[in-house]
Amino acid sequence: MKITIKKLMPILMVAAMLMPALVLGSSGAKLYTAPIDINDKASLRRGAKAFADYCYSCHAATFMRFNRIAKDLEMSEDDVREMMIHTRGKKGEPTKIGDVMEVSMTDDYAKNAFGTAVPDLTLAARARGADWIYTYLRSFYVDADRPTGFNNIVFADVGMPHVLWSLQGLQTPVYKTVMHGDIGVEELDHFEQIQTGKLSRVEYDMFLGDLTNFMVYIAEPVQVERRSMGWKVLLFLVVLFGFAYALKKEYWKDVH
Ligand code: HEC
Repeated sequence: MKITIKKLMPILMVAAMLMPALVLGSSGAKLYTAPIDINDKASLRRGAKAFADYCYSCHAATFMRFNRIAKDLEMSEDDVREMMIHTRGKKGEPTKIGDVMEVSMTDDYAKNAFGTAVPDLTLAARARGADWIYTYLRSFYVDADRPTGFNNIVFADVGMPHVLWSLQGLQTPVYKTVMHGDIGVEELDHFEQIQTGKLSRVEYDMFLGDLTNFMVYIAEPVQVERRSMGWKVLLFLVVLFGFAYALKKEYWKDVH
């Protein structure tokens, strides 16, 4: 039997669909569902503030411009400037409202400090998925063997420090052994809180929900417009159908 690409297609398609499950499955950790609502502008504004306060000192988002955020999140440019622009650009010049979200930290500096360059976060929500980001930010735990003092359940030996620890508090993982056939595998059972943070558990999850929502938005800002465009297109098609049907009746009325 000759094997052609066409015959292999169904197998390839199933493999492509299983791929994410395999990749996620390998870390063994279950992902929490991020409460994403891209049309909730108030949530996006809170997320933008969280991003500016806690992430933007290290992470750039170089496909995003401040004035685009002002327009999409219905804020004045002055408000965005005050809320988000605290640093200078790569060349040390004052950041302007029309600029992209660069950081002044160089890759060399980051490699020295964290052992790796700090990734740009514009597309992170698309590359990793919203649920992964949300779970990642919940899953830092105390680990004295790491240079930062923290490790992460979904990103083993991560270089990023737990920058939100003062909000979340400190936690350690409690594992359970799950049998896969004859082999026992250690999996996370739950986290044990060893020090409380400024926010309660529910408040912290809401904070992360807003932050993840903002990251989903910057990964694809046009989706806000695209959704409203979708409704307009559907409305247009309904109206067009009405006219087309009337026209059809008119043409065929002498035939029948
Ligand atoms: C002190 C610097 C610093 C701050 C502040 C910081 N990060 Fe990070 N972050 C890093 C470094 C370094 C890495 C790379 C980790 C690695 O590769 O081991 C990283 C990695 C990540 C990743 C994984 C990217 C990927 O796909 O590999 C995400 C997502 C992320 N950070 C989100 C955030 C968010 C959200 C915030 C704000 C709450 C934040 N970071 C604040 C330094 C920082």
